[in-house]
Amino acid sequence: MTEKYMKPDIDTKRIPLFIDCDTGVDDAMALLCAAKMNSFDLIGVAAVAGNVGLENTLPNTLNVLALAGRTDVPVYKGADKPLARPLVTAPHVHGLNGLGGVELDPSPRKAESEPAWDGLYNAAIQYENLVLVAVGPLTNVAKAFIKYRDLPKRLSKIVIMGGAAVGGNRTPSAEFNVITDPEAADVVFNSGIPVVMCGLDVTLKAYLTEAELDELAELGTPQAIFSYQSQQNALRYELSLGLPGICLHDPAALFFAEDESMFTARKAGIRVETRGLVTSGKTVTDLDSDKKMPYREHRVVLDIDREAFRGRLFALMRKYCIP
Ligand code: RIB
Ligand code: CA
Repeated sequence: MTEKYMKPDIDTKRIPLFIDCDTGVDDAMALLCAAKMNSFDLIGVAAVAGNVGLENTLPNTLNVLALAGRTDVPVYKGADKPLARPLVTAPHVHGLNGLGGVELDPSPRKAESEPAWDGLYNAAIQYENLVLVAVGPLTNVAKAFIKYRDLPKRLSKIVIMGGAAVGGNRTPSAEFNVITDPEAADVVFNSGIPVVMCGLDVTLKAYLTEAELDELAELGTPQAIFSYQSQQNALRYELSLGLPGICLHDPAALFFAEDESMFTARKAGIRVETRGLVTSGKTVTDLDSDKKMPYREHRVVLDIDREAFRGRLFALMRKYCIP
């Protein structure tokens, strides 16, 4: 396969990156990619309950970073449940352990002593141009924003995987990360800083077909084989829904943070429904409304050049082929 979009991985000035995730199979893919991005200095990762419980997302995060050869990256333990409602997980997609049943070697590194919200704030103090990519329920981020009122404006950019201008995947009107903790998402969207929402509008288009996932495995590295094996259950589930392949929701958000050129995004107001009986967890945007919301500095990511996305993903995963 010719790589139409081989991005030159010149070692530019690295931008400090903090990832908050509920390490399931697509979070793991994002961590493997982030670990190899020359444009970012991955300075911290926090685990939150979401796809599966924190008792799995925390070790999954540590162990995937070890698989990526990145035990240099500190990992923080976050929230084990949403701010104000019970945790509802997604083992039918990610498997009971969150990694599609694949057991990784345990990382030699342990989680840091301070909790995720303190780890994120300390990172924002240390790195003035910190980029936050949050690809799980926003519980940790909201707790950090509530505890440290000056935190939002200390971030240079926040990109989330979550929400949807149209549709939903856990209910007809809500996407998993947002409906798992809508109160947390409401805090983040109301924090006074622009949020980039990489929701289902774009992430359903950021997929690998079954054949492309097979091709990924053919790279033959432990990281590629893990990516292939861990995503088999999710692939089968998504194919059963009539989707064209496995949607790599979290890598899409990470790739937006790195290079917006393969995406289309529009400015909008975004609010979260936290009380609806049918619409709870819906991210309401004013994209297609003549009545505009007062705050319209958020961006909704709507489209992606899938070829560029696939090319970037393979280019990053090929880096594990180099000893
Ligand atoms: O709706 C998809 C999102 O929910 C992804 O981040 C997936 O990992 C789950 O957290
Ligand atoms: Ca996730």
